[in-house]
Amino acid sequence: MASSLLIPPPAQLTLGDEVVAGLTRPGQKTLPSKLFYDQVGSVLFEAICALPEYGLTQADARLLQSHAAAMIAPFAGGVTVAELGSGTGEKTRWILETLCRRQPTDYYPIEISSLALKQCQAELAAIPGLTIHPQEADYLAGLAALAALRGPAPLLVLFLGSTFGNFDPGPGHDFLVNVRSLLRPGDGLLLGLDLVKPVKRVKLAYDDPAGVTAAFNRNALARLNREFDADFDLRYWRHKIRYTRPCERVEMHLVSQRDQTAHLRALDRTVAFARGESIWTESSHKFRPAGIAPLVAAAGFRLHRQWRDDRWPFAENLCLAIE
Ligand code: AVI
Repeated sequence: MASSLLIPPPAQLTLGDEVVAGLTRPGQKTLPSKLFYDQVGSVLFEAICALPEYGLTQADARLLQSHAAAMIAPFAGGVTVAELGSGTGEKTRWILETLCRRQPTDYYPIEISSLALKQCQAELAAIPGLTIHPQEADYLAGLAALAALRGPAPLLVLFLGSTFGNFDPGPGHDFLVNVRSLLRPGDGLLLGLDLVKPVKRVKLAYDDPAGVTAAFNRNALARLNREFDADFDLRYWRHKIRYTRPCERVEMHLVSQRDQTAHLRALDRTVAFARGESIWTESSHKFRPAGIAPLVAAAGFRLHRQWRDDRWPFAENLCLAIE
């Protein structure tokens, strides 16, 4: 049974180490996008998912609802389900209900947020025949633990909501290789990916008129103030997005509105920012349908089937692990 990672993940840094490394980088300053997801940020993200301008989540849910039966068809003898980043579990309901109508099913949501795991359990607990095994862990550690204890049933790993798009291409490839190294041939990976679309539409999705995404972005600095005793003055930071065509990605930045200094007392750091200087907080890559088969093939998967939404360019991709 494969249960060790082919590509060792980078050394585990604390969140504070990552913050210091990003803010003291020469050239473009950065912050890790995981900083968004504290309690406040997770609520703001749920609000983003409900925005009409951010069609991604609704498209993901529509595809899962409409095609759940076809998505589980290759696993007619039963399948164990793992989900990387379950969130509240709402979208996964369609797959799990369809499976449980056929046979009892084990579901392993893997999440670093204990709050999200509790919400997910509450949302899905009433599905007859479903046994939920919450795993509070990061994706690969949780999947490795499951790989070590799983029985003979095939495994279907769900990675929905285009979270994969938040990886840069190199780390994204390594991540898929590592997922594959924890699977057996015939296991599945259902990968939800947001597709390339007109730039105007993408920009509106990441800079909505109600300012929810701007609040989500600025919450990264508010969190530094709360957790690292920092003194970022949020009135002087503006949410800005940039679409980079050659990379087909949306970047989120926070732009300093004046020359200013922030003290991160708990990290014993002071950082100076020039007026107009930005902190790059997130990248969201968009994908072309024809590029997905080669992307997953490079990590040892065959693209078995793809479903696309007709209202919002988004694709659900069922990939099977090959020898
Ligand atoms: C979680 N992830 C897929 C979202 C995205 O679209 O990249 C996070 C997000 N950032 C701004 N809006 C939503």
